[in-house]
Amino acid sequence: MVRSCEQGIPAWVYVGTLLLLIHSVTVRGAALKQEVVLDNWATVLNHSMNLVQRMETLLALGNGSDVTLRVQTINTDEVKVIQAHSLVLALQSDVFEELLLTRNNSAVVLRETPDCAAVFDKFVRYLYCGDISVRLDQAISLHKLASKYHVWALQQGLTQYMTQHLSSDSPTGHVIGWYNYALQIGDMVLRDSCLQYLSWNLSSVLQSGEWGSISEDLLLSLLQRSDLILQSELELYEALEAWISQNQPVSSTVESALRAVRYGMIPPQHLFRLQKQSPLMQKNYESIRDLLYLAFQFHSASPIQLAKYFDVNCSIFTPRNYLSTSWGSPWVINNPTRDDRSFSFQTQLGPSGHDSSKRVTWNALFSPRWFPLSARSTYTELGAMQPTRTDGGRPRIIVTPATSSPDFAGVSFQKTVIVMARQQGKVVVRHVYNFHQSTEEAGDFLVDADLQRRASEYLIDSSLYLHIVIKPLYHTLIVARK
Ligand SMILES: *[C@@H]1O[C@H](CO)[C@@H](O)[C@H](O)[C@H]1NC(C)=O
Ligand SMILES: *[C@@H]1O[C@H](CO)[C@@H](O)[C@H](O)[C@H]1NC(C)=O
Ligand SMILES: *[C@@H]1O[C@H](CO)[C@@H](O)[C@H](O)[C@H]1NC(C)=O
Ligand SMILES: *[C@@H]1O[C@H](CO)[C@@H](O)[C@H](O)[C@H]1NC(C)=O
Ligand SMILES: *[C@@H]1O[C@H](CO)[C@@H](O)[C@H](O)[C@H]1NC(C)=O
Repeated sequence: MVRSCEQGIPAWVYVGTLLLLIHSVTVRGAALKQEVVLDNWATVLNHSMNLVQRMETLLALGNGSDVTLRVQTINTDEVKVIQAHSLVLALQSDVFEELLLTRNNSAVVLRETPDCAAVFDKFVRYLYCGDISVRLDQAISLHKLASKYHVWALQQGLTQYMTQHLSSDSPTGHVIGWYNYALQIGDMVLRDSCLQYLSWNLSSVLQSGEWGSISEDLLLSLLQRSDLILQSELELYEALEAWISQNQPVSSTVESALRAVRYGMIPPQHLFRLQKQSPLMQKNYESIRDLLYLAFQFHSASPIQLAKYFDVNCSIFTPRNYLSTSWGSPWVINNPTRDDRSFSFQTQLGPSGHDSSKRVTWNALFSPRWFPLSARSTYTELGAMQPTRTDGGRPRIIVTPATSSPDFAGVSFQKTVIVMARQQGKVVVRHVYNFHQSTEEAGDFLVDADLQRRASEYLIDSSLYLHIVIKPLYHTLIVARK
């Protein structure tokens, strides 16, 4: 008699299988906790952490090792010996693969600089385990090893680590070292991140021990920038003086650096003092005499008058982003998503001695959810109906003068809003929004910031930390000649 299989399997077989399953579940309960149901049928048993631990032990004990790495520190007798496995090394690095193919015996000799030799163990452990703990002072050495041995994922991870840890505390500072390294290896993304951090947080860098170690090229390129965020131009001059006295550069460097200071932005009473009391200025007076003369002319009358008679071909009348009170004001907005806020503050009419005692009052308005006019009118016409836009509008900031005055003629006010954030526990500049020339609004203000989220990276303790800077520009004075 022919029976189908299904019919032929006695019921106790099913029961038995079931019992067996239950049994194994109880016995191996702990291991099965990590089961992840992927679809209706397959289940993942995940023991990858165990595998990592075994790999770590394998490296530590060297069981089954088929290659000895002899890590020689260049210019010393120091040799570190690591029992390794060619399979693992070749899997992670084509450079190791090549070295292993061409070796003569069971040892491979590697020559490394002292800083790389010091982190070589960590590096090899990464090849076995795929994770690594990094300190600020190890990032460059590890990055060098990752580059040398073509371990690209580690190299990328380290670049990312560096861009995210620019503001971390370190006793001697690390950003300038990272900048120099980025420049040396041609990593433009990292270089630009370092440069932006330095430009945006110049005040704290100027006060750090790191400032003295800044290279000549970096110093000169920072001095050219108009987007530096710092207290005042005087602060920059004083930091420059400290740098020069510490580094004693050649006189052409001193001259280029001194000529990049924007003397027009320093009030005349401070310029008098520097002329008489700054050893640097006294020593190099001749090389900046023309600029000082121009600055005093600028301070002595209306800049509009000056522009009538002189064409100026330099940046001494272009402000940077100064945080001191004559140039703007901080503005902290608690719970920014709640409702619209307004705020008033005063600035000087202009940096010229002729204008600096005249005040301009500014009104700033912040809306967390602003609808462009078209969207808003539909909303009000339709009364109780919900607006069709689901994103609830976008943040907006408007900065307008409270009054108008004939004094404003010829001046345009360039507005900049600086947004602070917290990174590694420190307050850093998160974003800088420049308003278009003479407009009242920054078009893309906080467009990527998710203010609704309490953990938004634009908020500090649920508050928005802004600093508004007003930069009076006399266009007739700062048009550079071709
Ligand atoms: C396995 O577990 C590790 C750590 O517990 C986890 O990172 C990984 O994503 C898991 N893999 C899968 C396929 O679930
Ligand atoms: C690894 O080697 C050590 C001795 O060198 C030995 O005690 C240990 O049992 C070995 N482990 C394995 C997993 O083979
Ligand atoms: C291997 O041995 C050959 C001949 O002895 C020698 O020329 C070569 O440099 C050696 N290669 C390495 C990687 O040590
Ligand atoms: C303007 O500046 C450039 C470089 O900064 C210089 O080469 C040029 O001679 C200057 N022109 C005048 C008219 O001062
Ligand atoms: C970065 O700059 C902002 C404003 O210039 C300042 O408040 C902050 O303390 C700076 N942060 C660091 C880490 O230097």
